[in-house]
Amino acid sequence: MAPRRRRAWPAAAAVFVEAVVAVGFAAEAADMVQERLTVGMTIVADAASTGAGKPRRDPPRFFPFLLIAVCLDGSPPAYHLHRGSGAGARSWLLQFEGGGWCNDVRSCAERAGTRRGSTRLMTKVEVFSDILSNRPFMNPDFYNWNRVKLRYCDGGSFSGDSEYKNGSSVLYFRGQRIWDAIITDLLQKGLAKAKNVLLSGCSAGGLATFFHCDSLKERLGGATTVKCLSDAGFFLDL
Ligand SMILES: *[C@@H]1O[C@H](CO)[C@@H](O)[C@H](O)[C@H]1NC(C)=O
Repeated sequence: MAPRRRRAWPAAAAVFVEAVVAVGFAAEAADMVQERLTVGMTIVADAASTGAGKPRRDPPRFFPFLLIAVCLDGSPPAYHLHRGSGAGARSWLLQFEGGGWCNDVRSCAERAGTRRGSTRLMTKVEVFSDILSNRPFMNPDFYNWNRVKLRYCDGGSFSGDSEYKNGSSVLYFRGQRIWDAIITDLLQKGLAKAKNVLLSGCSAGGLATFFHCDSLKERLGGATTVKCLSDAGFFLDL
């Protein structure tokens, strides 16, 4: 009897410990789900070739070339903005979404029909976590900054300015115009008065960071400190 009891004791203890651990994880998971920050999409409608959106002060109908900041499939570009507050109210973190590239008409036509080439097919609400989080203990440096996720839909790291037409289909390579349109929109929403701006992105978004760091600094002028963080954005052509 004695040996059996000795064996039974640790087993019971283990079950008890597991139960406590499981309750602990469940509580933590519930806490994280509850505090998860979700941010809705802002469509840059004035930039769309469809001309949708409100009339602008400088009527775009006289400048049709201004209306072609569009994704691969012709849908309007978009971003997600969560406003800063307190000491971070005049600081902005801009983050390019990553997601590789397309390389030719076939692969870009394919991409145009996915969430990587069309804002129509994207999730309209994004979870802001990590460097986009609004929780001080998770994101101590930027939690109270204005934080923006720039959606990636041009297939070429927010660069390029041309079109492909073959009679039956059109592909838009307007990454440069998407970048210009989003920044123009954000300038009106407070970016023009920023004290600090950090431009960042990973992979294809890291390359976009290299492409646009200098021009952003020029556009914002001397009163704004602009820094750029390219995460895995340099690609060797081997
Ligand atoms: C035009 O390009 C698309 C995308 O690659 C292709 O599916 C289509 O067959 C092409 N049409 C013509 C007429 O070449």
